[in-house]
Amino acid sequence: MNNNARMTTFDSITIRRAALADAYLAALKAQPGRPIALFAPRRVGKTHFLDGDLAPAAVKAGMLPVYADLWLSRKDPLAAINHALEEALDDVTVPTSAAGKAAKTPVRKVAILGNSMDFGDAPVRRPLPDDPRLRLDSLITRLASATGKQIVLMLDEVQSLAQAPQADDVIGTIRAVLQKHKKLVFSLFTGSSQEELGAMMAVAGAPMYQFAQLQTFPNLGTEYLELLAAHYRKVHPNKSLELAALERMFAHVGWKPALMKDLVKAMSADGITDVNQGLTLYLADERNVAAWQGMFDRLLPLEQAVAVLVAHGIAPMAKATTDALAQEPGLASTQPKVRSAVDRLRKAQILAKPEHGGSFHLEDQLFADYLAQKYTPHYLAKVRPSITAPKNAPKQLGNKLPTAK
Ligand SMILES: Nc1ncnc2c1ncn2[C@@H]1O[C@H](COP(=O)(O)OP(=O)(O)OP(=O)(O)O)[C@@H](O)[C@H]1O
Ligand SMILES: [Mg+2]
Repeated sequence: MNNNARMTTFDSITIRRAALADAYLAALKAQPGRPIALFAPRRVGKTHFLDGDLAPAAVKAGMLPVYADLWLSRKDPLAAINHALEEALDDVTVPTSAAGKAAKTPVRKVAILGNSMDFGDAPVRRPLPDDPRLRLDSLITRLASATGKQIVLMLDEVQSLAQAPQADDVIGTIRAVLQKHKKLVFSLFTGSSQEELGAMMAVAGAPMYQFAQLQTFPNLGTEYLELLAAHYRKVHPNKSLELAALERMFAHVGWKPALMKDLVKAMSADGITDVNQGLTLYLADERNVAAWQGMFDRLLPLEQAVAVLVAHGIAPMAKATTDALAQEPGLASTQPKVRSAVDRLRKAQILAKPEHGGSFHLEDQLFADYLAQKYTPHYLAKVRPSITAPKNAPKQLGNKLPTAK
């Protein structure tokens, strides 16, 4: 019986990836000073992996994992990294229990002018430098020496460094410090945009490939779907889900486990085994509709037009598209305006571009399905490049999922 057999809800199903974590640690050790930069689209499980697999693997290997989410402090990423390191340093130098304190800091009694005072042998090290760049440098040295361990520094959403004020300076500092302390610290970055990370490393003065080892973070595989199907069978002993159909659905939603789980959960609630029917019902579910429609309603008219076209598989920046949009009376569109709308949608992480070229798509495929189903603008025919079947044609849900290869 594996540990997953004990799982009792769809939500508690989780895939652990210890071998992948070990492989990254080995790759880091093989090239000291060179971080690994992992790329994957949103919601495929990067953070889940750092937290649940890489950090424990590092501990097991006798190293000290330190995690910082740079997206949360785009304005001051260096402070976020320093804060994470300081917390780790506190964990090792400041004992949490009273007993620990007493053991660590022997209290001496001294009499000064008849008054008795208690004080301990407080750490005599100089305070950490205030300059965040020097502070980073010091923190790494101190943390490594306090623990006697090598640090595994995990920087999540590292592409947000590019958005920091004085990005060049910050990136340059991180790079220099990581190089300088390559015996003490290994680092692993994650990002959801290869393009942005490439741009970010370019500002640091050397091409990305010379600094970090760029790797694509692998998607979860069939083992996740097997667990979902197994749990479904537990709930509905007389029914079963077809694995090949689940695989097509998983590919359709961009290998996003939480999205996939939600779909299977909804299918289970309705006792449905047909994935196409499950998808149709999911797209019609009023809670999902409210969320998607709310997101759509907050967009500006031109952004809405772009989102709908992309949902229909149309390239937003193609000349036929920008021409057609320019002719729409309500939109007052121009080619630069379409470009800005695209940029805003990307910044809002609604629109994404695949890593290796290719056309734009909506980050959330189910949102795209919803839009394509609901909106069919009259100019769609004009911008459709050819007679090839549209990717997300409305009223064709049954044909929507790509067939297995
Ligand atoms: N190995 C896994 N097993 C089961 N579920 C997972 C796994 N990895 C991720 N998930 C689910 O997918 C969801 C998204 O994962 P996570 O937040 O790690 O993705 P991410 O790539 O970091 O996304 P973002 O780009 O939004 O930061 C999580 O809420 C989690 O429930
Ligand atoms: Mg994440």
